[in-house]
Amino acid sequence: MNDLIYKAETTHALNIDELTALLDASEYDEALFAAADRVRKKYVGDAVHLRGLIEFSNICRCFCMYCGLRCENKNAERYRLTEDEIVETARKAAEAGYRTIVLQSGEDAWFSAERMSSVIRRVKAFDVAVTLSVGERPFEDYKAFKNAGADRYLLRIETSDKALYESVHPHMSFENRVRCLKDLKTLGYEVGTGCLVGLPHQTSRHLAKDILFFKEIEADMIGIGPYIPHPQTPLRNEKGGDLIQAVKVMALTRLLLPTINIPATTAMETLAPNGQAKALQSGANVIMPNVTDPSVRKKYEIYPGKTPANLAEDARKETIGKILSRGRTIGTGFGGRIKAHSG
Ligand code: 5AD
Repeated sequence: MNDLIYKAETTHALNIDELTALLDASEYDEALFAAADRVRKKYVGDAVHLRGLIEFSNICRCFCMYCGLRCENKNAERYRLTEDEIVETARKAAEAGYRTIVLQSGEDAWFSAERMSSVIRRVKAFDVAVTLSVGERPFEDYKAFKNAGADRYLLRIETSDKALYESVHPHMSFENRVRCLKDLKTLGYEVGTGCLVGLPHQTSRHLAKDILFFKEIEADMIGIGPYIPHPQTPLRNEKGGDLIQAVKVMALTRLLLPTINIPATTAMETLAPNGQAKALQSGANVIMPNVTDPSVRKKYEIYPGKTPANLAEDARKETIGKILSRGRTIGTGFGGRIKAHSG
């Protein structure tokens, strides 16, 4: 196993059997995390980039079996911020020092290409990078968002196994999800994708395939989180994902894609109070603090326990404290994917 970790660290290539073997072993986890930490330092440095996340609508047309925002969850209290509210939230975040604003929502058709483009143009005026995370759209919409100034797009594949994908996404197609990722690449976005760890019937081989999928699609960013069961979903009684397994998938992703951006995800922190710190020491170089107004934040309940009790500013200070205390720095630029050393 140590030979495999050495091979991953030096060649950035492993096959599906090798990845599966590492995911199945547990005695080598600390060696794996240390290797991912060295590769992170060598290729993307010590800076941790902060992204201000605005959750602007929880209205969603999808049926994702694991997600608390699924349209069939009648207990979810729905909200949609106005265009002015979104722009005002972004302005405050930019003033507070965020150089990237992430605009995330459920798949809410009210935000037509035209309305979304107007929001993007106004947020771009604050001299920030704009990342969108609004789900599957036709090519023409992605093109309109790009023309309005959007820089990056997040759309997790969730799982790269077609059968598993379709078992948890009724009324959706795996092919269309992949089509979206390819369209975004074609249009010149920096593309972020990623997966859930611990879905029902998901195996370590599925996860190994996900990592190879990230490489194949030439992702610029990868977000990985443990699946956390939500009581108002059909999968409420499932076991859910394990923090260490999620960090392992993330560490292996760092080893195979050394120059990409990788967030320490909120779902990791939800499972353990040191979850994000562990991720930052195992390959991650991005954190996405929530800057949404606290009055609606509780309603964006993708999974339970997601909302931190503290306010945006306190969360930011606390996060920065944790980063600096670990000998890391805060990124001062846009923090896009670095172009050199592409591995
Ligand atoms: N647990 C963890 N992550 C979830 N997501 C959705 N539902 C859950 C859940 N129950 C993730 C999906 C989606 C992202 C915005 O949130 O991966 O892409």
